[in-house]
Amino acid sequence: MLTNTPREFAFTEQDFEKIRVMIYNYAGIALTPAKHDMVYGRLARRLRALGLRTFNEYLQVLERGDSKEFELFTNSLTTNLTSFFRESHHFPMLSDHLKAARGSGVLNLWCSASSTGEEPYSMAMTACETFDSLRPPVHIIATDLDTGVLETARQGIYNADEVEKLDNNRARRFFDRQADGRYRAKQELRDLIVYRRVNLMEPNWPIRGPLDGIFCRNVMIYFDKPTQLKILQRFAPLLKPDGLLFVGHSENLYHASDIFKLRSKTVYERVSGGAAPTPASGLRSTLR
Ligand SMILES: C[S@@+](CC[C@H](N)C(=O)[O-])C[C@H]1O[C@@H](n2cnc3c(N)ncnc32)[C@H](O)[C@@H]1O
Repeated sequence: MLTNTPREFAFTEQDFEKIRVMIYNYAGIALTPAKHDMVYGRLARRLRALGLRTFNEYLQVLERGDSKEFELFTNSLTTNLTSFFRESHHFPMLSDHLKAARGSGVLNLWCSASSTGEEPYSMAMTACETFDSLRPPVHIIATDLDTGVLETARQGIYNADEVEKLDNNRARRFFDRQADGRYRAKQELRDLIVYRRVNLMEPNWPIRGPLDGIFCRNVMIYFDKPTQLKILQRFAPLLKPDGLLFVGHSENLYHASDIFKLRSKTVYERVSGGAAPTPASGLRSTLR
């Protein structure tokens, strides 16, 4: 027989509603009522850490303007699932794109929801393989809202089971095995990437074009269509006219068909006549 076990922390519908509004306004993350239990589970850890008994008390901490706690609140509500060479069909396309642009100076890529780093390191490995060099003329800026995952990405240290899934050549060429059995991305690979915290909802991104490519994969699914559209409108002028936008497998840009058109499976290019890119060259000017 099912019993209604009392929960460790009191969590009312009103608490859930406040949290839903807070995270939507700040990060664009649209939580449906079905996420009630997920929110409880993710934030219960914060209440425990702070020695609180109810979500109402926790909301008071946030409402008092505790910025460190707000950061941890945000980090708790992001979903960071990722893996090396996820949606692998994108990487040969990226490689072809880099090859086609070869000779036109440093190529700039933005990984706009980089999570724990597997995605930007996959982009970096692709660049090294394309140019057959550990120092390809490619700079990657990798950003995420979640400060916890950015720190993991910066460290570039991964469990053996993740790295050993890569083919042997890649694991050997791009990672060093540490004494504890984990693997660290080689310094040269790490040097290709600069990490920054960027909330895609903030009005001024510290990114300047023109970019050769933007990866924005598996994050727009958390946003509603109007939010997605606002972001897509801001991506377009950052891309070179032939720049590519890579999105996740369940994301489509039908609602932005005046800005982006499909080039290949979940890879988009700008519709010609869109806003011109802001002039810049090299990563230093990619970062504002
Ligand atoms: C499911 S992961 C996707 C990771 C990677 N792009 C991939 O496809 O494997 C979604 C990432 O989006 C980030 N995110 C969520 N809302 C964001 C926002 N408003 N601005 C920037 N990043 C955000 C999360 O922190 C999380 O790391």
